[in-house]
Order: sequence, then structure tokens, then C-alpha cells
Amino acid sequence: MLRAKIKVRLRYAYPKGCCRPYPYPAGELLNVLAIESSCDESAVAIYGGGQGLRAQGVYSQIELHAVWGGVVPELASRDHIRCLAPMISQVLLEAGLSAADINGVVYTAGPGLIGALLVGAGIAKSLAFAWKVPALGINHLEGHLLAPLLEADPPSFPYLALLVSGGHTMLVDVQGLGSYRILGESLDDAAGEAFDKTAKLLGLAYPGGARLAALAETGVAGRFRFPRPMLDRPGFDFSFSGLKTAALLALRGHEDDLVAKADLARAFEDALVDTLAIKTERALVATGHKTLVVAGGVGANVRLRARLVELGRKMAVRTAYPRPEFCTDNAAMIALAGHARLSAGERDPIGVLARARWPLDDLVPPPSISGAFEA
Ligand code: KG4
Ligand code: ZN
Repeated sequence: MLRAKIKVRLRYAYPKGCCRPYPYPAGELLNVLAIESSCDESAVAIYGGGQGLRAQGVYSQIELHAVWGGVVPELASRDHIRCLAPMISQVLLEAGLSAADINGVVYTAGPGLIGALLVGAGIAKSLAFAWKVPALGINHLEGHLLAPLLEADPPSFPYLALLVSGGHTMLVDVQGLGSYRILGESLDDAAGEAFDKTAKLLGLAYPGGARLAALAETGVAGRFRFPRPMLDRPGFDFSFSGLKTAALLALRGHEDDLVAKADLARAFEDALVDTLAIKTERALVATGHKTLVVAGGVGANVRLRARLVELGRKMAVRTAYPRPEFCTDNAAMIALAGHARLSAGERDPIGVLARARWPLDDLVPPPSISGAFEA
């Protein structure tokens, strides 16, 4: 961005609960450091300064939890404590910045594992206090919804978002930053959870979503056929727990048959992708949106991506994805959302904010959003 275009006027804001004004530059010059620690990924990113995403790092704890067959919350918290501080130093180094260049610290405040969230929140608040800059807790789901804005040709508001992660499956009408209307969601297992549980049945290591998808590539379509749940009902809700049961029943007698397992993986993936695509089509028709955003870890699924691109083509709708590493948990999406909200003058109250549950439709837009997003 041309320097001449950058506003250099200083704004003075009084963070709620703080008695001293923090001088900070106008939106385009903010450098925001973000920390993500809601589950089993420790992640740090720096966004802003007129350059968009400047540096980021993700450390996955998968190996730590794999032996237990799922995430162990206490182990996750301890590993975030071990990893986050050195990752922050590393990301600052990669961005060519020092602590003095950081104008705000944001962190994932929920939803997620409460202990893991508290580690990120505690570190973020401490750094913000030491560096005399504002801090702000960000909703993890908002991060996922905005992740496509990290890409070079970002979609513009409004859009329909299909958010499919390990903990959530929802169709969201996104009118703008903080304006989210949930059209439908899973009444039981999330799509990622259904992938992971079925993968476990098939004997695949945790987390099995991507492994099941890889196995499905070697399978034959049509040998097994699973139900497409909830399609007979109006509305946009999902239910995936029955698919796991269908997989369990179909597996009987084939426990040691690798070929049958691959065919079963393919049938499961086809049923899940089909169901997501059909409900998404309905939501596109109902809202009339011309842009579809696919976000969350399951958005990395190649077959789902292809199916929704095809749907977009059929309906003259633009389908926008973050790249796969911005579909799964990362701090870049938290940095982008945090940059937007900090630029608009939002601040945390005093104290440490962490919420295990934090529904997306509790969020509100910030006071103003001009200059909030960078290319
Ligand atoms: O968004 P995410 O990284 O974490 C949550 O916020 O939950 O999503 C993780 C989920 C896991 O259930 C994982 O198995 C699934 O996304 N996943 C996939 C693929 N890659 C990750 N599921 C299907 N196909 C994939 N390629
Ligand atoms: Zn996530």
C-alpha cells in the first residue's frame, strides 16, 4: 500500500476498565499479534501494518493426543504453555518486527477447551499489559467465517457461509463483521466429529477426518449406501450421528477387509458431502446470496470443495475457500478478525476473558468498520 494513502492521525482510546489512554495509529497501521489456543493447535500470527498477514506459525499437538484417541484437555493446556512463548518470538522474528511494533494483542476467547483458552488469554493479556497496548478476545467461529478474507481476492459481504469444523456444522448468513444469523446447525455430531468417529471405527488414527478422506479415494462408490439425514425435513439443520451408526452396522463382517473399509469410507464421505451440498443449495436459494464461503477444518476436504464449486457453477454463485491451512485452526484468521475489531475501537474489559461456549449469534458488529480489512 502506498504510504501516501495511509492515515497517520493518532486516535486515543480508553479501553474499558483501563484508566490510561493508549495512543495507537489508525487502522491501516495497526500491527496485531494473535494467539490461538482453543483446542489442540498452538498458533501465532501477526497481521496488519498495511501488509495483511505478515507471519504466522501453527504447532499441532496431534502426536501428543493420538495415543489417547482424542484430545486430552489438561495435556493440551500444558503443551500450549510450553509452545506459545517461543512461537511468539519466532513469529516476531519472521515478520521482522519487535515487541515495540505491536499495537494490539488478540486471542481466541472461545468457544473451546477452557483450560487451553485460559493459557492463550493469560499470555495475550500479560503481553498487552507489558507492552502497553490493548487486548481483545476473539470468537473462534468468527475467525473461521472471516478466514477467506485472508486470500488475495477476498469475497465481499454479504455471503452465505458453510462452517464445518470438528465442533460445529452450521449455515450462517454473514451480513458483515459481527452480523451473523445462524440458518441451521447440526443437532448432534458436527461434520468433523462424524468424520473422526467413523475413522476411529475404521481403525484410523486420531484425528481421522483427513485419513478417512484419503482412504475413501481408494474406495469404490455405490457398494455401500448410507442415508442422507434430514433431507426430508424443511429448514437447514443437520444430523450426522446416524451416519456413524450406519457405518458401524455396515462394517460388521468386514472388520479385517481393507477393500471393504475403503468402499465404506467412500460411502460415508459421499453421504456427508451430499447432505452438506443439498442443504447449502437450499440456503443459497432461500437467501439469494451470490457468494458462498466454505470454512472450518472439513472445508479442507477435497471432495466437498469440488462438490461446492460445482454447485456454485450451476447456481452462478462464487464459491470462496481459504487455502487448506486456513481452513483448519490457525492464528491468521484470529489476527484478521482481531485487527478488524481493534481498528474499530473495540477493547476487552479488564480481567481475562475465556468462554468454553460462545454462540456466534451473541456477537455484535463493532462501532465502525472502515479500514478494518487489509488485502
Ligand atoms: O476447524 P478445525 O481445525 O478445528 C475445530 O475448530 O474443530 O477442524 C478440525 C476437523 C477435524 O474433525 C478433522 O478431522 C477435520 O476437521 N478435517 C477433515 C479434513 N481435514 C480436517 N475432515 C475431512 N476431510 C479432510 N480433508
Ligand atoms: Zn476451528
